[in-house]
Amino acid sequence: MTLLERAGGPLVDGTELAVAAAGDGATKRDAILLSGVGRVFRRGSTRVVALDGIDLSVRRGEIVSLLGASGCGKSTLLGILAGLDQPTSGTATVHGRTGLMFQESALFPWLTVRGNIETALRLRGVARRDRRGLAEELLASVHLHGFGNRRPHELSGGMRQRAALARALAQDADVLLMDEPFAALDAITREVLHAELERQWGERDLTAVFVTHDVREAVRLGDRVVLLSSRPGRVAAEFVVDIERPRRMEDHAVNELAAVITSRLHAEVQRHARD
Ligand SMILES: Nc1ncnc2c1ncn2[C@@H]1O[C@H](COP(=O)(O)OP(=O)(O)OP(=O)(O)O)[C@@H](O)[C@H]1O
Ligand SMILES: [Mg+2]
Repeated sequence: MTLLERAGGPLVDGTELAVAAAGDGATKRDAILLSGVGRVFRRGSTRVVALDGIDLSVRRGEIVSLLGASGCGKSTLLGILAGLDQPTSGTATVHGRTGLMFQESALFPWLTVRGNIETALRLRGVARRDRRGLAEELLASVHLHGFGNRRPHELSGGMRQRAALARALAQDADVLLMDEPFAALDAITREVLHAELERQWGERDLTAVFVTHDVREAVRLGDRVVLLSSRPGRVAAEFVVDIERPRRMEDHAVNELAAVITSRLHAEVQRHARD
């Protein structure tokens, strides 16, 4: 049995998976469909090709982890998926409501935690009389019951990220776009939030694109790991994570697949350094 068969299912390079998923019914099943997406930034006479020819589909209910060297265009891609930015070529289609989470919680500091969540509910059009109860439910679901009256600065980093997750869920997001959301947390808090995210994902039929620099985290959470190459950002490789959930970062199978992906990531970074 090969390492990959045992640890993480087939290894698929390039865009083979995206092509395979684009068959019959793809538009119904896909939460995200990117076709030839490019993004060029221009400032004066300089031109940065951040993304070039990205073909990627994400099925409803799938968690896709996105890995790649710093500056390869991961945040740019999330910005496009969130509708905050437009591709300069190609098309990006997202079915459903998106919710964003960043490394910094980006909660409004002048509002309480409950106020932050109620604001998201208000923007979603939830009637005032229903907001308090829903906010309390969401707080309880991320184990922040009783912390609604606190301001963000009164919480720990992990609690703030939980509040940010509750706020993203308050937006009734179908598609969670997460940009290194747990990168600043200690290992144990991060484990707790992985489990929390996985639970919410299971209960709410969420689709997620999860950007991280941590290969083991990418494998721990993803149904698939997509590796972007650098300048221009392209899909360099995809890995199916065929490892039973629940998983832990320490699991042997997680580490085995992470090692394979890490060597591929290194090759990608070195290739870029030589160019
Ligand atoms: N608004 C902008 N104007 C000009 N260039 C930009 C802009 N946003 C991003 N870029 C450039 O696009 C490229 C991709 O940036 P991006 O932030 O998407 O990378 P990243 O993969 O998220 O990196 P990191 O892992 O460090 O967060 C970089 O070269 C960056 O300098
Ligand atoms: Mg980034």
